[in-house]
Amino acid sequence: MQHDKVLILDFGSQYTQLIARRVRELNIYSEIHPFNKIPTNIEEYKAVILSGSPFSVRGDEALHPDLSKIRGVKPMLAVCYGAQYLAHFSGGEVAPSNTREYGRANLSFIQKSEPFFAHVTDGSQVWMSHSDTIKHLPTNGVLLASTHDVENAAFKIEGEATYAIQFHPEVYHSTDGKQILENFLVTIADIKQDWTPDSFVEETVDAIQEKVGNDKVVLGLSGGVDSTVAAVLLNKAIGKNLYCIFVNNGLLRKNEFESVLNQYEGMGLNVKGVDASDRFLAALKGIEDPEKKRKAIGNSFIEVFDDEAHKLEDVKWLAQGTIYPDVIESVSATGGPSATIKSHHNVGGLPDFMKLKIVEPLRAIFKDEVRRVGATLGIDPELLGRHPFPGPGLGIRILGDITAEKVRILQEVDAIFINGLKEWGLYDKVWQAGAMLLPVNSVGVMGDERTYEKCVALRAVESTDGMTADWVNLPYEFLQKTSNDIINKVKGVNRVVYDISSKPPATIEWE
Ligand code: XMP
Repeated sequence: MQHDKVLILDFGSQYTQLIARRVRELNIYSEIHPFNKIPTNIEEYKAVILSGSPFSVRGDEALHPDLSKIRGVKPMLAVCYGAQYLAHFSGGEVAPSNTREYGRANLSFIQKSEPFFAHVTDGSQVWMSHSDTIKHLPTNGVLLASTHDVENAAFKIEGEATYAIQFHPEVYHSTDGKQILENFLVTIADIKQDWTPDSFVEETVDAIQEKVGNDKVVLGLSGGVDSTVAAVLLNKAIGKNLYCIFVNNGLLRKNEFESVLNQYEGMGLNVKGVDASDRFLAALKGIEDPEKKRKAIGNSFIEVFDDEAHKLEDVKWLAQGTIYPDVIESVSATGGPSATIKSHHNVGGLPDFMKLKIVEPLRAIFKDEVRRVGATLGIDPELLGRHPFPGPGLGIRILGDITAEKVRILQEVDAIFINGLKEWGLYDKVWQAGAMLLPVNSVGVMGDERTYEKCVALRAVESTDGMTADWVNLPYEFLQKTSNDIINKVKGVNRVVYDISSKPPATIEWE
């Protein structure tokens, strides 16, 4: 890759991925690596950022990497824990702070003409989140800015391109945070801003062509953003040598299989739709336990996909829509390196005997970048803006055992809810929405008749990554209309409730 690269050393902060995304929003490529696994090709990185951390520099020797190949050699920006790390191990002093240092603060410049703060106004709001504070600067430290409660809020090291800040420039509430990152990366580190969706598409297409040549590639499409963008990229690179398989597991949204398949065909993809609803339903018969349902759905998918892939001759590669957050190695809560690499691919775990090589064109990019790349590729904005939908689909939204009738009921309910959100202009304000079919009947009255029918729960959440989420305060008028529509139109349902639980302690899906 010809782009300048930024290395982000992760000390376990909850904001580390946000740093990487902010840097990339500046059209600069960045990579996250655990603090204790500094890449051996360090010379290829043009600047280094040290992240924050839940740990204290005073406590844990484990978070003390050797930075001798970086510090003073490359431009370095130390954020929060990173700044304390610099101070603590280089002749300064870090101590527990006496006042609470969480939330908003305002910068007061000490060095007014410092390029690090170019285009940032004196008094600019920054976001603090730390319990230790830097009492004394490290050797050769030059104070750049303070806040009301934090004297050493920003400093540099004389004679080095080393900068340190106690606040978090990556969070939204640091008003000029992006400008400060730009000052450091562009002005101080002299990095070019040429990592754009267009350049990504161009380079990825070249890389795919070089990697797979004239081989055939098979890809499982799910209807979601990642697999769709991966398919369009691959299609651009290798055309008809890409064989897409779109499986209907019978647990998709109402009419989704037909409409998405049409869309795929309209995009020129070489796609085969396989309706395996009956096979999935048969495999799920009588199963109530959520994890067993997931397993049954996952196994059926592998069987169907495997059958289809075997109908193709000479396929050498399996493409997957893996994205960057799935492959970032995380720093564990104990401070040690964690071997766990997150993996939640719906298409994962194919049997060994398929012996396919793997190609993952989106492996280096975040979800928001996938959408930007998708837009560059001309993919329909409605498809790119779709809510996330779980691989097991409605299977984990029907509590208890699954039958064709329950799927039909939930599809109807879900369609009324989702179409309503779209009609009321609420769809894009919600991160994910759906309906759950509960395994209880309750008494109702319709006309003069007693009913004893199903209850559904509606769920709409806001979130950034699904790890935490809160319920959305949908207008009462919308809920009222939706509830009426559902009960009047969907036979078998006589009660609608709205889920007002956050995650944690609840989860987004009910199973
Ligand atoms: P939870 O319920 O864990 O959901 O709060 C977080 C996000 O993950 C999705 N989800 C799944 N996605 N297979 C998937 O592909 C699954 O088994 C699965 N379970 C939950 C969920 O829809 C939400 O976006």
